[in-house]
Amino acid sequence: MDRTFLMIKPDGVQRGLIGRIVSRLEDKGFKLVAGKLVLVTEEQAKRHYAEHEGKDFFDSLVRFITSGPVFAMVLEGDDIITLSRIVIGKTKVTEALPGTIRGDFANHTPSNLIHGSDSPESAEREIANFFSPEELVVYDKSI
Ligand code: CMP
Repeated sequence: MDRTFLMIKPDGVQRGLIGRIVSRLEDKGFKLVAGKLVLVTEEQAKRHYAEHEGKDFFDSLVRFITSGPVFAMVLEGDDIITLSRIVIGKTKVTEALPGTIRGDFANHTPSNLIHGSDSPESAEREIANFFSPEELVVYDKSI
């Protein structure tokens, strides 16, 4: 079973899309093992987007992600990193296909509603940036 870090960005929270986005992820069969509203600090945002440091959009990305509450989540499922990025859709909203979260709901690239980890290493680092190990629940497999 794999884990990933997903985060509904401030635009998704402000637009009241938390429920609909989480529903799509649950419909796909992923299990929510942690979830909370967070006001991201500047330090936390810079750690989260460390790979983009130095790019021309870095400062505006940090300003955007700290501009209001996000809904941070950890989900589990087989191949979830690849599969969740398919469900989310392409980063550029002009390339995000209908049927994906971004394709159906997003219309502007930096504010593209949701972030998803792109590798197991990123997932581990991003989960640790938002959650302590005790916050992740373990499901009883017999249920
Ligand atoms: P996300 O999946 O959160 O990962 C990095 C984010 O950077 C990405 O979604 C976009 O919101 C943002 N991003 C990527 N490319 C650009 C760009 N060219 N201009 C502005 N923001 C970008």
